[in-house]
Amino acid sequence: MIESRTDVDLAALRREYGEHGLDIPDLVPDPLEMFRRWLDDAVRAPLHEPNAMVVTTVSAQGRPSARMVLLKGLDEGFVFYTNYESRKGREIEANPALSLLFPWHDLQRQVRVEGTASRVATKESRAYFLSRPRESQIGAWASPQSETVQSREELDELYVAAEHRFEGVIEIPVPPQWGGLRVRPESVEFWQGRKGRMHDRLVYRREGEGWGTSRLAP
Ligand SMILES: Cc1cc2nc3c(=O)[nH]c(=O)nc-3n(C[C@H](O)[C@H](O)[C@H](O)COP(=O)(O)O)c2cc1C
Repeated sequence: MIESRTDVDLAALRREYGEHGLDIPDLVPDPLEMFRRWLDDAVRAPLHEPNAMVVTTVSAQGRPSARMVLLKGLDEGFVFYTNYESRKGREIEANPALSLLFPWHDLQRQVRVEGTASRVATKESRAYFLSRPRESQIGAWASPQSETVQSREELDELYVAAEHRFEGVIEIPVPPQWGGLRVRPESVEFWQGRKGRMHDRLVYRREGEGWGTSRLAP
């Protein structure tokens, strides 16, 4: 028997899910509009960090990796901002296929997106960069995201160096390696928890210019 590494009884942790279901007639034709409605529910709930999502990328060697980012735009795709030279940035460059997951536990919901990422226009990244607090702008210049650093001190020195570099500069420019990625969805699944683990799973899949919908077994 494997010794447990936690005092929490993980096998006994479970929640009963609700009566309120999701059926094909509840779906609107466009999954992005459907997502916007669920995001509104998550914001209104209010959930903590309702726009946090797990982004999974796959390296050129086929090894997946996941991390959290914040959704910062919603139009014909899902937009987030990052360092293009980070691990995720490089993996997306080599293989733009990725998935997104919104884990909205308190609403007994999750949304899964599969799609393809492409860089947003420089102008768009710039507009968002300018809206960020100055500390975050400096951080974007200072941090060689995903690279190994020797210590916290080295990181702090990088920050101070970037602070000095932009002393007196009113509008900090956008770092060349930083910007947005837009995920164009190929499929979007809406999951609603139901009783007895008989959850509702409705998925949109791109079909030509439009979308087809179907129900998946939980
Ligand atoms: C709630 C939350 C939000 C985050 N938002 C972002 C984000 O919007 N962009 C980003 O690059 N990293 C964000 N991060 C940090 C990433 O999870 C990750 O540590 C970083 O991007 C490096 O990932 P990588 O080495 O796989 O490229 C966030 C982390 C958390 C916990």
